[in-house]
Amino acid sequence: MYEKSIELLNRAIADELAAIHQYMYFHFRLDDLGYVPLANLLKMTAIQEMLHAERIAERILFLGGEVEMELAFPVEKIHEAEAMLARARELEQGAIAMYNGFAMEAAQAADSGTRKLFEELVAEEEGHWDQFERQADFIARFGERYLALQSFQGEPGAEE
Ligand SMILES: [Fe+2]
Ligand SMILES: [Fe+2]
Repeated sequence: MYEKSIELLNRAIADELAAIHQYMYFHFRLDDLGYVPLANLLKMTAIQEMLHAERIAERILFLGGEVEMELAFPVEKIHEAEAMLARARELEQGAIAMYNGFAMEAAQAADSGTRKLFEELVAEEEGHWDQFERQADFIARFGERYLALQSFQGEPGAEE
């Protein structure tokens, strides 16, 4: 009865798991570049995607399905902050479009619980997109090197 929803939810979890891997990679790279606040944003976003994966997995189990642990796409090994933010915004836009479509498919399958979950995820992915857009806008205005200057505030032992 809930086969369609379980299939959609497993496609969603594959996207979340891949996003977690990608954002963790960006976090490590940004930290290595000394761009501490932006590195922290990627880390916090990866944690939020993990919480999304958890909510999706709980829904799959509630519906009696199995949680597949596939990754939807491989990690892209990008080294520049600007290109990372472009990729991150692309991933969020992809998730927003996908979850909007899944919400409609779940409604058609008469599963309003799953529809509601996808609608909540759309709103949260829009929030991620907005944060990445804001950072990309700062880089466009001040250049990538501003990220290193900004990092002094985030370094342990830095003067207030
Ligand atoms: Fe997510
Ligand atoms: Fe997201």
